[in-house]
Amino acid sequence: MPKLDTAALPRHIAIIMDGNGRWAEQRGKPRIVGHRGGVESVQEIVRTTRELGIGVLTLYAFSTENWKRPPLEVQALMGLLKTFLESELSTMAQNNVSLRCLGQKDRIPLEVRKVMEQVIKETASNSGMILNLALSYGGRDEIIQAVQQIARECVDGAISPEAIDQAVLEQHLYTAGLPDPDLMIRTGGETRLSNFLLWQASYAELYFTKILWPDFRKNDLLHAISDFQKRQRRFGKTGTQAEQTHDY
Ligand code: IPE
Ligand code: IPE
Ligand code: MG
Repeated sequence: MPKLDTAALPRHIAIIMDGNGRWAEQRGKPRIVGHRGGVESVQEIVRTTRELGIGVLTLYAFSTENWKRPPLEVQALMGLLKTFLESELSTMAQNNVSLRCLGQKDRIPLEVRKVMEQVIKETASNSGMILNLALSYGGRDEIIQAVQQIARECVDGAISPEAIDQAVLEQHLYTAGLPDPDLMIRTGGETRLSNFLLWQASYAELYFTKILWPDFRKNDLLHAISDFQKRQRRFGKTGTQAEQTHDY
């Protein structure tokens, strides 16, 4: 197991959980079997992140573009999500984890949304870790809805256009108040963002692995964090400046 510097852990890890379908296809099974396998990885990664004391974990579970998949797969994913939320409530309570959802809530089927809202409500005061589930989430959509809200505030006279800065935009994103991801992981071998946290990832360290999500477990997460800890984050400065300032 890689040795980690516990004083230099990422504050926020975001994961594009990709490769469930291929994992199942490799085994000659229907894609949903891969999604089920993926739930076990979710449980292990949430547990590990919590144990490490990392404050925020954001998991990309369903994109705005994933609605284009065959209806049966979408239905199965929504069903799986509902079961997951129902079964995880007690674990989240035990581990002091607070659930939040990022995305277009109104597109989530009512019976799933009800459970989701219940879990969010019941875990709201937990302070150990924030687990963000990105559901019907798209980075572009998130920016558009933020711009719409700000435009409304301008029309109402609550804010002037000149006062719109990065902080104002951030306050209107789903991730308002949270630190940007320091480390973004994508499993499944693709090296793209697929519309995930477009604004927030501007300085995230990216980590791509060929491991398919249902195979991605504790040790793989530790490897990704260890790799992150070897990088120098310069934020536009020179290497020497970065060494002196120790920006996160
Ligand atoms: C990720 O796995 C899960 C979702 C997008 C819901 P995929 O279902 O995309 O798996 P692959 O990429 O087809 O293997
Ligand atoms: C990204 O995976 C979305 C999630 C992991 C939820 P996709 O499988 O949808 O991404 P593309 O289509 O390969 O870019
Ligand atoms: Mg995929």
